[in-house]
Amino acid sequence: MKFETLRVQGLRCLGDVRVSLDAGINVFVGANGAGKTSVLEAAFLLSHARSFRSGAKEALLQRNAASLSVFAELRHADDRLSRLGLGKEGSRWDARVDSEKVPVGRLVRECAVVCFEPGSHALIAGAADERRRYLDWGVFHVEHAFLGAWRRYQRALKQRNSLLRSGDSIPEALFLPWEAELAQSGEEIDQQRQDYLSLLRPKLIGAVAGLLPELGAVELRYRRGWSDDVTLAEQLRMQRGRDLARGHTTHGVHRADWSIAFEHAPLREHLSRGQEKLTALACLMAQALLYAELRGEWPVMCLDDLASELDLPHQQAVVGQLRSAGAQVLLTGTELPLALQGPGARVFHVEQGRLVPLL
Ligand SMILES: Nc1ncnc2c1ncn2[C@@H]1O[C@H](COP(=O)(O)OP(=O)(O)O)[C@@H](O)[C@H]1O
Ligand SMILES: [Mg+2]
Repeated sequence: MKFETLRVQGLRCLGDVRVSLDAGINVFVGANGAGKTSVLEAAFLLSHARSFRSGAKEALLQRNAASLSVFAELRHADDRLSRLGLGKEGSRWDARVDSEKVPVGRLVRECAVVCFEPGSHALIAGAADERRRYLDWGVFHVEHAFLGAWRRYQRALKQRNSLLRSGDSIPEALFLPWEAELAQSGEEIDQQRQDYLSLLRPKLIGAVAGLLPELGAVELRYRRGWSDDVTLAEQLRMQRGRDLARGHTTHGVHRADWSIAFEHAPLREHLSRGQEKLTALACLMAQALLYAELRGEWPVMCLDDLASELDLPHQQAVVGQLRSAGAQVLLTGTELPLALQGPGARVFHVEQGRLVPLL
């Protein structure tokens, strides 16, 4: 899929920006603070309804602006054109597909953007929720039933947690329906995650081995969030006393995690920051590749500050792979990256929130 046009209003320093994008590689060049990352953020917002930068979603709204909106015309591989929009006015977010108001989940399903950026190493070195988000993004795009199960699980989790916090004289009967719901939706989510990981595993091992051959054989490990030898229903029942003492549910799919172990770096503490970044990049490339295989089109690939994140051989490897896959790429840098010099990329100069096409 490819963005043909992107229009951004009231997002950080981007007051009103309209851009026609190339179907191949687009490079946004400019000084620090010019607004380059914000352009990628706008694209990512359509596909995730959140930013990849940490911090409150409110910070996205341009200071003193009343509203924020992002519109895009997105061309799919089957030639279908979708008009996508996400806007915020006051505290309300509105999603649109082809001018029709839709639930955010419908917008997000329509559009896939994968972004490698300076914070991406958190996928390897950060907290487990970062890795669950990555995993669930993949599952969401291949398994339609996932969103429903995930919502049922979240609702039941909230209910059980509030019972756990309301004291220890709560009758067992009040726990039972929520535990049954957690067990049922949780087992479903776990199965969907495992099915997805078994499709992802070979891609991931290939991508990691390609970018970090010096670290030897790679293994992907998954922990589902509760003991291997009991069902989730049994675990919740056994754990209830201890959960009451803690005031929250300590086992379940909300505690799942995965990790990558290398033959020559079995613990993640063995990796340098650069190796963490390359591992994270491999995970994102593998996920994009699997998406392309299952859905018949590549996600739009964003590479923020590529030249400061990767050395030249790795920049060339990634850009080369995306180019030969025919993916649309949105890339930023303070200068035109060496890996992209020569013909074949559309370059925009970004200056104080304005965009000027250069070539
Ligand atoms: N809510 C906001 N309103 C106005 N300007 C903002 C807001 N949030 C961030 N900025 C400014 O927008 C710019 C963001 O730029 P960014 O896209 O990160 O730049 P680059 O990636 O080119 O370094 C910075 O100059 C920052 O100070
Ligand atoms: Mg930036």
